[in-house]
Amino acid sequence: MKIDILTLFPNMFDGFLGESIIKRAIDTEKVQVGVHNIRDYAKDKHKRVDDTPYGGGAGMIMMCQPIFDAVESIRNKKTKVVLLTPQGVLYNQKLATTLSKEEHLIFLCGHYEGFDERVTSIVDMEISIGDYVLTGGELPSMVVADSVIRLLPGVIDDKAHQIESFYDNLLDHPNYTKPRTFKGMRVPDILLTGHHQNIDKWRQTERIIKTMQKRPDLITKKVTYCLVKDARIGNIAIINLLILDGMDITPRNNAKRNDVISVTKMILIEPSFIKKVIKTKVEKKLKIFIERMHELDEDDDSTSAQLLIFDIEKYKKYLIDHYIGYVGLDYGDLIIKKIQLLLNELMIRKHLHINNSSKETRGRSM
Ligand code: ADE
Repeated sequence: MKIDILTLFPNMFDGFLGESIIKRAIDTEKVQVGVHNIRDYAKDKHKRVDDTPYGGGAGMIMMCQPIFDAVESIRNKKTKVVLLTPQGVLYNQKLATTLSKEEHLIFLCGHYEGFDERVTSIVDMEISIGDYVLTGGELPSMVVADSVIRLLPGVIDDKAHQIESFYDNLLDHPNYTKPRTFKGMRVPDILLTGHHQNIDKWRQTERIIKTMQKRPDLITKKVTYCLVKDARIGNIAIINLLILDGMDITPRNNAKRNDVISVTKMILIEPSFIKKVIKTKVEKKLKIFIERMHELDEDDDSTSAQLLIFDIEKYKKYLIDHYIGYVGLDYGDLIIKKIQLLLNELMIRKHLHINNSSKETRGRSM
């Protein structure tokens, strides 16, 4: 693959292209990257690349001529020209995969207040990396280039793509390294068994649970299917499936329909199991908070109490935003009440400590 970047600030790319995996991909010729200064294509004797907007208004607009000439001199028949702009389609992993299959990409980085609208006539795709406005398209083009280059064959271990966040639209499973126990937090026992099949199953389950907890928006469809082992045998069960965007479901006999699908490998998780897992996690977290509260007795420090209050408040919000929907209102209510009790207790301790220490200070100054 070849990537050409058109920018007014080529030096911004030095660090990005000169370090780590991207540097290695370039050195080993997995990708060729060219950085071109749009100003070099300006025909004006002052090398102007921007001008004031017709109709008035603040700021400068990038002119067509240098951009058109730069693109024309670099593009070939197979080139896809990508404009980085907050007005583009929102970038995601699927788009990264699509772009990684192209032979030649040109990334066009806008700057100042924008560019002449006619620039879009030579562009194949407009991409935004998020709903916020940056000072230019340089950082977005690095983001897109990075996510594309790492997908090219041989750039990183191919297996890594299959287990990372967003491959098949699930988040990554939790990962751990040494030590086995850190500040009372243990590595899940299953990871120490060496039983790879069970570990794979556990990881896949964790990915689904994590996605449901943290990014339920990735779960795009809920459908009901009849689970049939063989057409002659008939229905075995009716199941509700959550179809995750990008999940590999093949229509039977490759027909262009999704009402009969054939699934080769499927993990079914009963919602009550998810509830159970969440409950265990919440109980564990509360235990840690209680332990931290007991430790406060020893150093009796109001700042530590305040930090703990802050952490618990944060967790409470997280619970309400992510978990309550899965555990049911009754259990949700109970857990919020427990948290509130903890917070009340901590507030009392904090105030007692503040009162005591101000009495001490007053005592000393008298
Ligand atoms: N240029 C400025 N902001 C941008 C964004 N969010 N995405 C892509 N290009 C941009």
